[in-house]
Amino acid sequence: MAADQPAFDLPPDSHLQWIGSTDVEQFHRVGRRYRGFLVDDTGLRPDHRLLDIGCGTGRMAIALADLLRAPGGYVGFDVWRDGIEWCRREIGARRPEFTFVHADVAEPFLNPGGTQPLTDWRFPAADGSIDRALALSVFTHLDGPTTRHYLRELARVLQPDGRALLTFFIVDAVGEAHLRGWPGGPEALAGDRAPLLMRFGKDLFTAWDPAAIEDAAAAAGLVILGREPGDWCGRPPARPDRPHHQDHLVLGRPGAHP
Ligand SMILES: C[S@@+](CC[C@H](N)C(=O)[O-])C[C@H]1O[C@@H](n2cnc3c(N)ncnc32)[C@H](O)[C@@H]1O
Repeated sequence: MAADQPAFDLPPDSHLQWIGSTDVEQFHRVGRRYRGFLVDDTGLRPDHRLLDIGCGTGRMAIALADLLRAPGGYVGFDVWRDGIEWCRREIGARRPEFTFVHADVAEPFLNPGGTQPLTDWRFPAADGSIDRALALSVFTHLDGPTTRHYLRELARVLQPDGRALLTFFIVDAVGEAHLRGWPGGPEALAGDRAPLLMRFGKDLFTAWDPAAIEDAAAAAGLVILGREPGDWCGRPPARPDRPHHQDHLVLGRPGAHP
């Protein structure tokens, strides 16, 4: 954080647990690492408008607070009301160009009481208004219809030359061998290509066949511009200097990228 920036309070432990972060050090380390991925892999600049899909308790907003500046800015949304309220209070109140929106949709585990179908949710951004987007450890929790809807919404809000970094579990041969060793893995594989489903308590995990996620992106009007496998299935990091757990896809609209 630069010297002229306000330091933010830390989210409570219960919030770190919600997003699966083991401790504060890990929370910040992952935030810094994904800031680097956004800059290196999508060309994120200070004047860009970034959409954070499933922003949780502000990990990326905090990590990007001294990078994004007006006319650039940040909008994050999540189905988890407490996380959004915390972000508004701690981050949005000090940085008006950082906004946080509660997706008040029907999600029995994450947002009991929400009534709007998930597949009707409209991302909080006008058509073609977003330069860069991120979904960190979010699509790995979405079922097939929601994934396809979110990809269509992403295509709607992205600028023609916009880019998005999304994390997934992509199941190639190495991933499939790994999944078969998971509790619930073989049942999950019965879901075939689009996507594989595993539910543990409140957590739904989904994993995609490489061709199926490419088809889903294409059907939404997006192309895959870059891929980098993560180490979740025991594979060595693609680049040891920048390890990551989930698989990375960089998506954009067709035609605008060399
Ligand atoms: C593992 S956490 C990651 C949070 C944040 N992206 C980060 O990396 O700090 C997953 C987040 O996705 C949110 N989420 C789950 N389903 C969602 C949906 N359909 N739309 C928006 N957010 C969702 C959860 O509430 C949770 O905050």
